[in-house]
Amino acid sequence: MAQFELACGDAVAWLKSMPDASVDLVITDPPYESLEKHRARGTTTRLKESKASSNKWFSIFPNTRFVDLFVEVHRVLKKDRHFYLFCDQETMFVAKPLAEEVGFKFWKPLVWDKQKIGMGYHYRARYEFILFFEKGKRNLASLKVPDILEVPRVHGGYPTEKPVGLMRTLIQQSTRVDEVVMDPFMGSGSAGVAAVLEGRHFRGSDLHPDAVELARGRLVDAGGADLRVR
Ligand SMILES: C[S@@+](CC[C@H](N)C(=O)[O-])C[C@H]1O[C@@H](n2cnc3c(N)ncnc32)[C@H](O)[C@@H]1O
Repeated sequence: MAQFELACGDAVAWLKSMPDASVDLVITDPPYESLEKHRARGTTTRLKESKASSNKWFSIFPNTRFVDLFVEVHRVLKKDRHFYLFCDQETMFVAKPLAEEVGFKFWKPLVWDKQKIGMGYHYRARYEFILFFEKGKRNLASLKVPDILEVPRVHGGYPTEKPVGLMRTLIQQSTRVDEVVMDPFMGSGSAGVAAVLEGRHFRGSDLHPDAVELARGRLVDAGGADLRVR
């Protein structure tokens, strides 16, 4: 049975508490400082209060903290593993060289095609990037998967909730059954739900207690065993 363990706290501090080479895949989706700019212009999804979250806006993760984050992600990953970073078109230019500096090989941005247009004035937004990094060398499970992943966006969920189907593809591609998937900015826990549904174990954290409890409920509903309540 897929097991999961959740924590509430700052991503970097939580990663620092993890042993070296202890996870098989990191997928994560931090709240970039560029979101503030989009919000100021009114061109991003409004992260207003939702049923799922009492925080009006996410706390932003500043670009100046990327190196610390990437050092820890690289350290906790086992040898020959992958790292996926959800990213917008501004932050990718900052994040890519910093991740390379700490030792990751950058392959390419994957495009998540949300299949319907969203907000924006300079061509309305239909995609997001997912930067694909590698530590060492690991083959993808299937060579038939394209670099454009077409999955409809989630409506009415946690702010910026990512679809479980999209996460399942990344997990199938980069892990085997019983391996460990980690997300240090897990939000509603979509990466964790996908991990459990794919028979992988999950370690996740978020700064906000509401998110952690929401994720816990979703992971239990998906059939995961909560290591906290053994
Ligand atoms: C873009 S959302 C993640 C959404 C998630 N992928 C999902 O599908 O629901 C970013 C999350 O990072 C959390 N966060 C903000 N600052 C953080 C920090 N320093 N450490 C950990 N989590 C943080 C926010 O509470 C938010 O839930």
